[in-house]
Amino acid sequence: MFLVYNTLMAKRALIYQIYPTAYGNLKFITNKLPEIAESIGPDYIWFSPFFLSPWREGGYDVADYRVIDPRFGTMSDFKQLLKTAEKYHIKILLDLVLNHTSDQHEWFQKSRYRDPWYADYYVWRDKPLNWQSFFSGPAFEFDQIRGQYYLHLYDKSQPDLNFKNPRVVKEFQNIIQFWTDLGVAGFRVDSTNVLSERKLRSGFLPRIPGFFNYFQDKHTVQVLNKLLGSNKFFSLAEPVGSHFLSHAKFHELTQRAFDASFNVGILDVADTFFSDKANPRPLNYKKWLKKLATWTPEPKLSFALESHDTPRAPSRFKASPKVLAMLQFLLPSNFPCVYQGQEIGTHNPKLGDKIEDYPGVLSRSIHRQLTSAGKSDAQAIKIIQEVSRDNARQPLDWAAYKTQDTDPDSVLNFYRQLIALWRTSPVLIYGKLKVKTITKAGVFDFERRYGAQIYHIHLDLSGKTSSFLKDSTGKTLLPMVD
Ligand code: NOJ
Repeated sequence: MFLVYNTLMAKRALIYQIYPTAYGNLKFITNKLPEIAESIGPDYIWFSPFFLSPWREGGYDVADYRVIDPRFGTMSDFKQLLKTAEKYHIKILLDLVLNHTSDQHEWFQKSRYRDPWYADYYVWRDKPLNWQSFFSGPAFEFDQIRGQYYLHLYDKSQPDLNFKNPRVVKEFQNIIQFWTDLGVAGFRVDSTNVLSERKLRSGFLPRIPGFFNYFQDKHTVQVLNKLLGSNKFFSLAEPVGSHFLSHAKFHELTQRAFDASFNVGILDVADTFFSDKANPRPLNYKKWLKKLATWTPEPKLSFALESHDTPRAPSRFKASPKVLAMLQFLLPSNFPCVYQGQEIGTHNPKLGDKIEDYPGVLSRSIHRQLTSAGKSDAQAIKIIQEVSRDNARQPLDWAAYKTQDTDPDSVLNFYRQLIALWRTSPVLIYGKLKVKTITKAGVFDFERRYGAQIYHIHLDLSGKTSSFLKDSTGKTLLPMVD
């Protein structure tokens, strides 16, 4: 089976993200596909990695890109999933982790021993630079066997690949071919903009603004274009550090290689700073909403409120799930990405009180940073409970889907109505955004205008006034949200 990619479809699509561990295994996900189709009917499902992995970093440490991790099942389970998805008109996107592999990957093991074919697959140096990893701590690690340092922008178990080496590029061309031949419709590409390092230099630490421009150079874009510029499959970029992402850098990605791109920075401005999750800032609605107003008119922006990397949006933004959904679907939004469980209004669960309850490397690192900065264990855990991405990685409340399905006032049914409008209303498809008011308290008034038609939208994140969508005659097109 080979899916021919339809460019028209690519101009607008609803994406749904699944983090597989929250479901258990591929068979279980396959059984849930009819329900997902029925709940929100996405065009694409993007799967976070389910490839062979030692699971030190939630699957983003891949040990073999062509093998399904046994915890999720087998290749034949995956083929069955693809078949079922096709039946429900859902296309499948896989997560392509380009920047790094697991240190357990055969390429790295051979590179450590200077196997002539693999010796230059990773970024090796005699002397480390002063770079910090995105997960804190030094970004260069000494390898006893090779007697050199290797670069890891993330955890030390995730060595960075060397994309200056044409063999590495070729490996990924083959991996892409392997999955598209099976019928996969495309890829979400992890850490898109940092995959090649220009002349390595001291002083480019992750928290200074120039850092990301340093990474996304001509060569990175050429490599991305070669790998992903094809119009035979769909590609979705995940540029990191997008606090600093300029519109020009965003366009460079979307014009040369990607059909759509995230910009997680447009949420982070509300309360965090890239790669500094340990120090959440007071929620700043005004800054956040202003950023949304400037970025959502980007036609290729994929606007997501949550992911496997964030806490749950209603808890994080202290707002009603319905009002947040209005934000996501009523602002210009050609590629909205809904994270599993978002459509039933999932909040952060109550995570554990002990650091042992947190298997993720990032939560552990936040704990280390906070306690070494003088916070007590209890204070550190309290912050982790709020900011940890483990919040989003828990099993879903399947019973809630059943109850909400038949309740006309449920969050799920609100999503269904919103999505139906998003799919059919010319004002929402083509309408220009006109911002009227943005306040510190979280009130956002805007219009969408298409020809003579105007939609008036009033959103109140604080919940003090009712949120609504009205057309020019004053008729409400969605239930008001109190
Ligand atoms: C971005 C992914 O979304 C995140 O989960 C992961 O930790 C890093 N890239 C490293 O792969």
